[in-house]
Amino acid sequence: MKKEEDDEKIGQCQCRRGVTRRGFLASVGVGAMAALATSGKISAAAEASAPELPAEKAVAVTLLVNERRHRLLVEPRWSLLYVLREHLGLTGTKVGCERGECGACTVLIDDLPRYACLTLAVEAEGRRITTLEGLMQGEELGPVQQAFAEEDALQCGYCTPGQIMAVEGLLRARPQPATEEIRLAVSGNICRCGAYPHIFKAAARAADLKRG
Ligand code: FES
Ligand code: FES
Repeated sequence: MKKEEDDEKIGQCQCRRGVTRRGFLASVGVGAMAALATSGKISAAAEASAPELPAEKAVAVTLLVNERRHRLLVEPRWSLLYVLREHLGLTGTKVGCERGECGACTVLIDDLPRYACLTLAVEAEGRRITTLEGLMQGEELGPVQQAFAEEDALQCGYCTPGQIMAVEGLLRARPQPATEEIRLAVSGNICRCGAYPHIFKAAARAADLKRG
């Protein structure tokens, strides 16, 4: 099955603030590979090599992802996480536990953080979906991404896309959050490296960057 719109190409230009778009997305990709290797999780790879969708099981959906409309045929059981990664090529959203425990798969649905592994693709029809890729501002990092880079708020980087989406969701609702609100906002996102002190700082810095 093919999506009807081409994926956005990852550019290679140098961002003005010193972190390249390719470098940032690649770094979280390296984290993904490390986490897959250490956890032994192979389900995403297995799903990727799944056979073609049988016509009798196909359901037509239109997903609005990062302000682009995608018309797709999906199985009713497919998660939004699977469709984003394997059919739309949006691999910034990470596969972790796939059962709502780690937060690695966090995306925004109508501006609210949601676990993409617990959301069916068919449920997401008609909703506004935002992924890590959708936070880019052209070839530059968005404010939350920039703040995470500035505050060194990652180690292995595997949880980072989910943390960034949780913070983005918080700041869309609460532009000037209190420290307790920041802690609560990322409480559903597990960081096994223990980078929380830097993540909290990054969230506060992102609020400043967003306010300009
Ligand atoms: S992959 Fe862990 S909560 Fe979705
Ligand atoms: S930076 Fe490694 S899990 Fe969070």
